[in-house]
Amino acid sequence: MRNFDENSITQAVLDRVSQAKDARQRQISQALVRHLHAFVKEVEPTMPEWEAAIGFLTRTGQMCDDKRQEFILLSDTLGVSMLVDAINHRDAAGATDTTVLGPFYVQGPSEFPLGSDISEGMKGEPLFVSGSVASADGTPLPGAAVDVWHSDEDGYYDVQQIEEIGGLSMRARLIADGEGRFHLWTIKPAAYPIPHDGPVGDMLEAQGRHPYRPAHVHFMIHAQGHDTLVTHVFIAGDKYLDSDVVFGVKDSLIREFAAHSAGPAPAGRVLDRPWSSLHYDFRLKRSGP
Ligand code: BEZ
Ligand code: FE
Repeated sequence: MRNFDENSITQAVLDRVSQAKDARQRQISQALVRHLHAFVKEVEPTMPEWEAAIGFLTRTGQMCDDKRQEFILLSDTLGVSMLVDAINHRDAAGATDTTVLGPFYVQGPSEFPLGSDISEGMKGEPLFVSGSVASADGTPLPGAAVDVWHSDEDGYYDVQQIEEIGGLSMRARLIADGEGRFHLWTIKPAAYPIPHDGPVGDMLEAQGRHPYRPAHVHFMIHAQGHDTLVTHVFIAGDKYLDSDVVFGVKDSLIREFAAHSAGPAPAGRVLDRPWSSLHYDFRLKRSGP
């Protein structure tokens, strides 16, 4: 077969990829070709536009290393990460809503005793975080591993300023007590722009979009016999709740961060300045069908 034109080439490519032996590979390849060709037929790119598109994808790949994942940022900002997340959590009846993992999770966080201050001396308004972990039917999950991480008061994660601060902070693993409860001290996070000094930032600019995420605390919770929960809790009233650059906000994940004045505080603390508190009861979906 030869002499393809704009009317015949799509079917020719579909016929070729339909030789894939693996059924899922075949399905994905055919859908990719169908949608990609439909996109090109709709957009009708000029040759300079096509070259710009290749340049954009090339720069996106070149920006990726073990610290920066520009392709995930691209997926996040085009709503693909949240779409994949939604497709994979359709039947979570009774379980806490999920949202994006984001690029700032560090595998194997250090374990801290319940009640610890995980801010490691970072400056900011003290925040008391408490919560519980239970199965979707309400059965408490003692021993659940609760990974927590968040930004500082200026919106930066520890890994973005590791040279200045000299180590990890504002991240920890806590093990829930016999009733599935946990609590810790840290500092209140702020809204922040996702890394926007690369091709994804250029894309946002060209699309007339800001790069901000509303302030939040991340959680990843593991418990035996349950699906791992990846989510955040957002601060009520944040000005970016309705325009999160990665489309990650759900009403069920927004909580008031209660304001308290100086004085006696939980876990044996007496504070000489105002502090905030956050409480969230998490529910995990039982694994399996
Ligand atoms: C985050 O919340 O850490 C995040 C999520 C998606 C993209 C960038 C950052
Ligand atoms: Fe985040």
